[in-house]
Amino acid sequence: MKITDFYNYRKPGPKISMVTAYDYTLAAIAARSAADCVLVGDSAAMVMHGHPSTIAATTEMMALHTAAVARAVKEKLIVSDMPFLSVRKGRGPAMEAVELLARAGSQAVKIEGLDGHGDIVSHIVQSDMPVMGHLGLTPQSLNRLGGYRTQGKDRASAEKLVAQAQELERLGCFALVLECVPAALAGRITNLLKIPVIGIGAGPHTDGQVLVLQDLLGLYGEPPSFVKRYLDGRALLEGAINSFDAEVKASVFPENKRKDHANSERNETLAGAPYGAPVRDR
Ligand code: KIV
Repeated sequence: MKITDFYNYRKPGPKISMVTAYDYTLAAIAARSAADCVLVGDSAAMVMHGHPSTIAATTEMMALHTAAVARAVKEKLIVSDMPFLSVRKGRGPAMEAVELLARAGSQAVKIEGLDGHGDIVSHIVQSDMPVMGHLGLTPQSLNRLGGYRTQGKDRASAEKLVAQAQELERLGCFALVLECVPAALAGRITNLLKIPVIGIGAGPHTDGQVLVLQDLLGLYGEPPSFVKRYLDGRALLEGAINSFDAEVKASVFPENKRKDHANSERNETLAGAPYGAPVRDR
């Protein structure tokens, strides 16, 4: 899916699937999958670096992960998160962050919230860097919210979310992520907007869904209740490492094959690169 597919999106179109990726190896798998687009989320701070929240993400961190993902993903839209405070220091620093992410390979940025930085959203859009909005539970607001809670539950906060979503569309956002809002509210916003709305913990009535890849693969801690695990990745990987350990200790691996010895004695080139050849070269 390309940015133009988002621009041309007509409701009710086919549902859009988006997964996060932060490193070359999993991004290469996402690249070959049927998922529509890839988000280099600031959840990288938690999933890849072990921080307790996304507040620890920096522009440099996001650029490094974006560059790794961009080496693997060639045919799908790559969206990168603008990290905590990066749109709050004025136009110049915000544009420097956008430039760093664009040069690293992202084709669009995602920006949390709206209050106080609508002018920056608009400037980024007018500078030809497409912007995906993000409303509802915005994890960068954790210190203000005091926890990860469903947003828009009362009438006033629901109306504010509706108004903000419409404003982000007016400012030129090409899509909107709605995180942890009641399903009925997400459905209402989805029907009001022309741009596609991608939900996470926001029920089934949106134009698409996004999940953290490590959550859906069962690779990272205890996921939020709305996550569906499609694989028990941790158990599978741990089992594989334990098999390796057992075979090493039992002297089963490596096998004592005559051919291996012959190769190493003659100093022949190994089949494949030491850490595996890039997927596209296989
Ligand atoms: O950082 C992230 O991974 C996100 C998605 C979960 C929407 O913002």
